[in-house]
Amino acid sequence: MSTPHTNATVVEAKDLRQVYTIRRGFLQKPDQLQAVSGVSFSVQAGKTLAVVGESGCGKSTLARMVSLIESPTAGSLQLAGVDATDPKHKATLRQKVQLVFQNPYGSLNPRKRIGQILEAPLEINTELSAAQRQEKARAMLAKVGLRPEHYERYPHMFSGGQRQRIAIARALMLDPALVVADEPVSALDVSIQAQVLNLLADLQQELGLAYLFISHDLGVVRHIAHDVMVMYLGQVVEQGDKTTLFEQPLHPYTQALMASTPGMHAPGGKSQRIVLKGELPSPLNPPAGCVFSTRCPHATDRCHAERPVLQPLAGRQVACHEASAFSQPAA
Ligand SMILES: Nc1ncnc2c1ncn2[C@@H]1O[C@H](COP(=O)(O)OP(=O)(O)O)[C@@H](O)[C@H]1O
Ligand SMILES: [Mg+2]
Repeated sequence: MSTPHTNATVVEAKDLRQVYTIRRGFLQKPDQLQAVSGVSFSVQAGKTLAVVGESGCGKSTLARMVSLIESPTAGSLQLAGVDATDPKHKATLRQKVQLVFQNPYGSLNPRKRIGQILEAPLEINTELSAAQRQEKARAMLAKVGLRPEHYERYPHMFSGGQRQRIAIARALMLDPALVVADEPVSALDVSIQAQVLNLLADLQQELGLAYLFISHDLGVVRHIAHDVMVMYLGQVVEQGDKTTLFEQPLHPYTQALMASTPGMHAPGGKSQRIVLKGELPSPLNPPAGCVFSTRCPHATDRCHAERPVLQPLAGRQVACHEASAFSQPAA
């Protein structure tokens, strides 16, 4: 069994961008949609970076780039120290990073038994014999909390939580270093969510996995993240370690997300009053200044005109002209 390499950087992204060209009609000029606009982060072995933000902010696009399903329009991406945008490394790196989706049913072939589903990646990518593949699949079933007899069953015979365990098992068959989980518990009941999150945490401990964990729900993120990245309209608005962010969120958007999450409150006064109003602007036509300015209760003229850059403040990175005012202790 491989020992976890603690502190090793598993993934490092610099200024990742994804621009989609949207063609409306033959004679019309195509539109450019900035789905992800300049995202940088790194994740160490054994650690979880959570990406949070409302629907449409670019989380799944980021997931597809990091899991090598889509090439970024610009920026650099390193996996295990290797340039992942270089086509000649792609085949090997694809095994190092695996994706787990919100709805595992869609990705589990209904006509295949669980054993076959788990062994398929080994069949394609390894030289293991049929007996060795079966041994590995059975061991993985046990690792994710399923029973030996489940090996023979079909996907429809499982509950949502069990299916997510199967999807996790399949993702781990090729011993990845990084698991990108895109809303992995969002479709599950709250009690089942906790079980799957605990499983992910246990597997991380045991295998030294790095996670890029995507969720719109800060309540979920709180249980699993080491670091948190808050996105809004393709931009990172605040980024840092979980405790720092949760104890004193400095971006009004982070504050609003916290205020709208049951059971969470931000110390420091102001945040409690923030309620997100108004609609999310179209990513085809983002606000000129700060992307959050159209919904921000603290927005000034400067915020409407000049886009703030992500910069260090009080132990994290934040993109807000007014953030230094929030970093003062409440009177
Ligand atoms: N393949 C695509 N072509 C065009 N636009 C896309 C494509 N995928 C996503 N988008 C757009 O990019 C933005 C970000 O989407 P997405 O990454 O799915 O956000 P999230 O996962 O946070 O909900 C949205 O405005 C979405 O409509
Ligand atoms: Mg998504």
